[in-house]
Amino acid sequence: MRRDGANAARTMTDPAYELTHGDSLACYEGWEAPDCIISDGPYGLGLYPGEPASVDALEAAYEPHVRAWSRLAKSSTTLWLWIGDLGWAKLHALLERHGWLFERCHIWDKGPSHCTHKVNGRTRRRFPLVSELCVFYSRAPEVRLKNGRRVLAQAWLRAEWKRAGLKFRQANEACGVKTSIARNYLCKDGRWMFPQGAVVRKLAAYAAAHGDARGRPYFSLDGARTIRAEEWDALRYQWNFEYGVTNVWNVPPLRGVERLKLGHSPVHINQKPLALMHRILGACTKPGDVVWEPFGGLCSASVAALELGRRPFAAELLAEFAGVARERLERACGNTSGEEPAAERAKRKRPRTFALLGGPVWARRARKHARK
Ligand SMILES: C[S@@+](CC[C@H](N)C(=O)[O-])C[C@H]1O[C@@H](n2cnc3c(N)ncnc32)[C@H](O)[C@@H]1O
Repeated sequence: MRRDGANAARTMTDPAYELTHGDSLACYEGWEAPDCIISDGPYGLGLYPGEPASVDALEAAYEPHVRAWSRLAKSSTTLWLWIGDLGWAKLHALLERHGWLFERCHIWDKGPSHCTHKVNGRTRRRFPLVSELCVFYSRAPEVRLKNGRRVLAQAWLRAEWKRAGLKFRQANEACGVKTSIARNYLCKDGRWMFPQGAVVRKLAAYAAAHGDARGRPYFSLDGARTIRAEEWDALRYQWNFEYGVTNVWNVPPLRGVERLKLGHSPVHINQKPLALMHRILGACTKPGDVVWEPFGGLCSASVAALELGRRPFAAELLAEFAGVARERLERACGNTSGEEPAAERAKRKRPRTFALLGGPVWARRARKHARK
């Protein structure tokens, strides 16, 4: 099966996506290790069934998820946490405790049109809210050694150089420069920079030629050969720079054909724009990468992932949302990236979602589960 974006198709043996109608907590162990996790979970606003009605309940709600993400993440996994401002304030310490490193806070600015009809200056004694946050976290790069031990990449580089019995200034000579290599790449403090694989290969070649012969091989994960440049580079997250994109995302709230509706009401109040999911995934993943969407809703991140040739794993607790999400994912697999036009939807008496829920085995199971 091809997974290269638009032509991705679903087969029984090699599915293009995995969507579970149920609790994501029960799924994580069975999912492939993620390259990227897009979390758009509870905000503490009580907006949909099961969502805590207070931000004070968020830490307890997220704790088991954050614990699982940390255990199953790679050192190159990124986490994108969609949340409100106070919600983030309540969750940041939890994420740090579990090894997530803050990279950037992105502000989705929906613009003034998002609020004008609701603003009453006499009763609302603050500026109106027209934003959501999407906070980007990474993990400290680690190497996994032959004995299964994980060591921070920074500490490992320094330790291997010392083990070879070399002086730190010799690292500059190893790379043919005057000063920067030892200071930037072999230091033990917060100024450390992640070197490119090509630099690590130069350090390794120098250690092999000039280091203590008894300790060879140096810079080896398996004790047999030196780490390859691409193995080293894969320890940190992918980053595809897009010129002109900043941390303020001026994108209007979802309207038009992309906003899925039942009659006049949105199917899901929190449906996110595909354009923003494309932006995230385009920046930090490559084709074939695994994307987790633990709080699926209508699975916008997974739809975008399929459209870009990534491999999404998603879960959604509620049957009505999971059904619509399944439709969207199937459509994305079927090589039609756009949403169904509103005019087409309006022609039908019953929404297609419910027709779907009456049909396939998956949907029958979903309804049975929902009745429990
Ligand atoms: C904010 S919405 C996600 C909206 C989604 N990003 C979209 O664009 O459609 C969060 C969703 O997560 C679901 N949810 C909450 N806790 C869950 C859990 N433990 N496992 C699976 N889904 C969960 C809720 O039912 C809700 O539909």
